[in-house]
Amino acid sequence: MSKAGRSRPPRSSYRCQSCGHQEAKWHGRCPACGEWDALVEEVAAKPGQPLPAGAAASVPVRIDKVEALDHGARVPCGIAEVDRVLGGGLVGGAFLLLGGDPGVGKSTLLVQMLAGFAAHDPSPGGAPGPSAGAGAAPILYVSGEESVSQTALRARRVGAVTPRLMLLAETNLERILAHAAQMQPAVLAIDSIQTLFSDALDSIPGSVGQVRECAGRLMAYAKSTGVPTILVGHVTKEGQIAGPKTLEHVVDAVVYFEGEGGSPYRILRAHKNRFGSTQEMGVFEMRSSGLREVENPSELFLAERPVGAPGSVVVASAEGSRPILVEVQALVAPPSAGVGRRTAAGVDGNRLALLLAVLAQRASCDVLTEDVFVNVAGGLRVAEPAIDLGVACAVASSAHGRAIDARTLLFGEVGLTGEVRAVNFADVRLAEAAKLGFERCLLPKQNHARLDHHHGLELVPIERLAQALSLL
Ligand code: TYD
Ligand code: MG
Repeated sequence: MSKAGRSRPPRSSYRCQSCGHQEAKWHGRCPACGEWDALVEEVAAKPGQPLPAGAAASVPVRIDKVEALDHGARVPCGIAEVDRVLGGGLVGGAFLLLGGDPGVGKSTLLVQMLAGFAAHDPSPGGAPGPSAGAGAAPILYVSGEESVSQTALRARRVGAVTPRLMLLAETNLERILAHAAQMQPAVLAIDSIQTLFSDALDSIPGSVGQVRECAGRLMAYAKSTGVPTILVGHVTKEGQIAGPKTLEHVVDAVVYFEGEGGSPYRILRAHKNRFGSTQEMGVFEMRSSGLREVENPSELFLAERPVGAPGSVVVASAEGSRPILVEVQALVAPPSAGVGRRTAAGVDGNRLALLLAVLAQRASCDVLTEDVFVNVAGGLRVAEPAIDLGVACAVASSAHGRAIDARTLLFGEVGLTGEVRAVNFADVRLAEAAKLGFERCLLPKQNHARLDHHHGLELVPIERLAQALSLL
């Protein structure tokens, strides 16, 4: 694995991620705890290292004397769908990870964001730090994956060309940091962290050791200079080996860019955010001219809804403060193999299994031996339990071959005893439903009891799943 030279003293060592045991050489299995594939290269001489130049000694500070972070100082990129997910924009010194599958559109989103920051960054020096007030500080886009001409071509195609945006094709961390120290950018972006390597380690770019070392050094850069730094990271479907998952605890915010294969729609979601909510999401459409914001996702996700078809139900989901009406489709079919299969797209498979069991045991709708397919139309993934009632009713609708009224929608969490439980943001969901012309809503009784407005909808409080099924 390692190409560690025999002639020079080792600069790095290998530490077991499972038990902390340290070895001079790489082993496939930790000699101490026996864990396979757990040894990761790290810089050996960490303790006792001299402080890097410019690093101040740390001082304890009384809590009431600490100046609160000024959240007004956020720099928005002007793409509302991105800014909302970031919690209003980039904060000085923020260290952000933009993750996603290869090909989903991370580089496209990044270049559009950077062009937006260039346009909206009000102070000429950009972020607070040494660059403040030094004339329009550049925004530095480092690509380790593509040449500058490829990056520029994409930027041109999506209309993200601005003279403030500087491109650098480089994979060596030390050289990138040297460029950054010299240029004092307002924002630093690295595409991607997996392509970087530090001279301090012998392992290959993309290995867990390199990814950690490079991310750690970039974080130190972001924190000491106040320059917001964005890392792009690939998530691999199989293991998340060396993937951004190993970085999640290091960074301030993790946003994932998601898309289902074949669908032009993309969702940006925060999984962790020290500066804002993790509930928000942004919706985009990938076009030939780059990513476009989708301002009205409900309309879009309902656009191709079949009317009067069994197995189709509209659910009011809410991602953060943002309501999105989605169509849940279910198909119950005779088992193709000996046992019933479950296929879930856009909803959690375990949750579906639970709902099928509840349907069978508490609502006399037994499809346990049949094949059940559930899909959220438009390639959206809905993780919140408020979709439960809709999923269960869609399955029952398909099983009985009876369509659910097209102007009715529903939401609510389903518990193991078949009870329908209250969810958040009932008001926001109802307002969105009314806006889109729905007339009736089945909702948890507890939510109904606490409502202030009816939004002109006929509201049907539901206590139990069986009650919803008989009503529909
Ligand atoms: P890219 O941003 O390179 O993805 P990532 O950095 O996540 O690997 O874009 C991936 C795909 O997006 C690419 O296959 C082509 C498509 N695309 C468009 O459809 N329109 C565009 O304007 C651009 C730039 C890309
Ligand atoms: Mg890319």
